[in-house]
Amino acid sequence: MTILSSPHELKNYLKDKRQTIGFVPTMGALHEGHISLIKKAKSENEFVVVSIFLNPTQFLKGEDLDKYPKKDEADKKICELSGVDILFFPQVQDMYGTDEVSIQAPHVRGYVLEGTSRPSHFNGVLTVVMKLLNIVNPTNAYFGKKDAQQLNLISLMVKQLFMSVNIIPVDTVRQSDGLALSSRNVYLNETQRKEALKIPSSLHGAGIMVSKNILESELIIKQMREILEPLEVVYVEILSREFEIIKQVEIGNSIILVEVKVGTTRLLDNIWL
Ligand code: PAF
Repeated sequence: MTILSSPHELKNYLKDKRQTIGFVPTMGALHEGHISLIKKAKSENEFVVVSIFLNPTQFLKGEDLDKYPKKDEADKKICELSGVDILFFPQVQDMYGTDEVSIQAPHVRGYVLEGTSRPSHFNGVLTVVMKLLNIVNPTNAYFGKKDAQQLNLISLMVKQLFMSVNIIPVDTVRQSDGLALSSRNVYLNETQRKEALKIPSSLHGAGIMVSKNILESELIIKQMREILEPLEVVYVEILSREFEIIKQVEIGNSIILVEVKVGTTRLLDNIWL
């Protein structure tokens, strides 16, 4: 595995590649969820690039940038063992200058759900993803379905800016008790981790309602909020795959999304129905 930190060096390295390139952008602290993205990229491309970059512009003031888990050496090992061809590991000064051009998330989809409590978060995500895609110029780029709003906005950016990369959604990986894997799970103490299981339970309960043909969003959201008590619910929402609010679950075109705060840790999860 080759490790590069300079965007220009990486761009040059990849410039004449005739192979299909699969790209997995990450912020490090890699877990099984990232490994599943890398595996999918490996199975669908001849060459795989992973980036590890803790992007400061997607964190708001007072957020957890400084305490975001860092596991550089373990991450390198994981990439190597997973058969990654290039690990791109830039520093902030390699990626950003002063007086920067940036991508603006759209006003409806970018400032609802996670964007309500984190305005400008998605501007930072889209800007860095645009930079990374321009550096790597991949055939396919892989993103987890757990961050459904991020995935939706990136797909929208690629479509609206006529970019040619394919954005590939990858299923969420869960622990055996149902908790979705997230780099933020390390912040949870034992009690909080148990409380966090209310998240997959609420989604499971929603799935059972739908299987019984109870499709009204209002009823499903009410039951989910009951299951989630006493956790602080940031939102529970039922949307179409195009991210529009829907009154009824439409099988094959719906996502049920939830974000809660467990202690000070924000956890996201969703199911695609
Ligand atoms: O999902 C993430 O890890 C980040 O938001 C991403 C896509 C790597 C951009 O920094």
